Amino acid sequence: MVKKRVFLTRTLHDFALKELKKRYEVEIHSGKIPIPKSILRSKIVNVEGLICFPYDKIDRDLIDNAKNLKIISTYSVGFDHIDTKYAKKKKIRVGYTPEVLTDATADLAFSLMLDVLRRVSEGDRIIRDGKWNQIYGAYDYVGTDLQGMTLGIFGLGRIGSALAKRAKSFDMKIIYHNRKPISKNKEEVLGVKYVTFLKMISSSDVISIHVPHTKETNHMFNMKIFKKMKKSGFLINTARGKIINEKDLIEALNKKIIAGAALDVYESEPISKNHPLTKIQNVVLAPHIGSSTKETREKMAEITVKNLNLGIEGKSPIYSVGY
Ligand code: DGY
Repeated sequence: MVKKRVFLTRTLHDFALKELKKRYEVEIHSGKIPIPKSILRSKIVNVEGLICFPYDKIDRDLIDNAKNLKIISTYSVGFDHIDTKYAKKKKIRVGYTPEVLTDATADLAFSLMLDVLRRVSEGDRIIRDGKWNQIYGAYDYVGTDLQGMTLGIFGLGRIGSALAKRAKSFDMKIIYHNRKPISKNKEEVLGVKYVTFLKMISSSDVISIHVPHTKETNHMFNMKIFKKMKKSGFLINTARGKIINEKDLIEALNKKIIAGAALDVYESEPISKNHPLTKIQNVVLAPHIGSSTKETREKMAEITVKNLNLGIEGKSPIYSVGY
């Protein structure tokens, strides 16, 4: 029997490749990452399944060109890189990997918050630059306590709720904003209080973003919003870079309109070592590693393959966008 074809824009774990190779004719892109669009376009002309990553933009043009495609299985919880509406119109299923990365991403958001408030990465740079002897004064190099601070969670879904659990054990006050409040019962369990978006912006000491990137959330955090935040406020983003207007954030940090930021995601990734954010001390930068633990990445690979298999069989993926 002729094997169906599958294309991967980057390699996956050995166990996942083994599973794929049992069933399909597998081709894996091994060159430049992200894969250039022209290569991706030509590689998926005849495939039934595509495994992609958040850096791969899967637009109408690519979808139109992939005549046999049945499933796009993304190795990520985010799917803003895929034109999911158009895929659905073309009867192409889209699978993604939520749930398994909830704790890893919440852990990273929390560690970024601790890092920027306690200036851990900055301290690391001080030692490496041989400047430790310059910070002995009582007022030198002080951070901020987390205890008693108000954490504003923008998007209290799975990851936002997991962050709330962590923050509660650090005795933080937690407020949140969602399109709709969660049930009173859940609010009580998590120890969170619903507020309007503007109230969350103006009363939080730390704001952590946990919403998807959509037309509505694009550049939602801009200078107008930074000016409404506390001057002593911090911003954490482990969701998607485009939710923040980066140019405005750089200005807000440089002009001390807000106190600091810690980021795992950027408007355009990867950022270079000369990016303006790398010149600012009160910002912690992580290279998009929200889900990056051995255990979580393995679980994501397992689901990515299962989603792909189901889609090729004409069934709905375990985690499906649309249908
Ligand atoms: C995702 O899965 O969308 C994350 O951003 C990857 O770390």
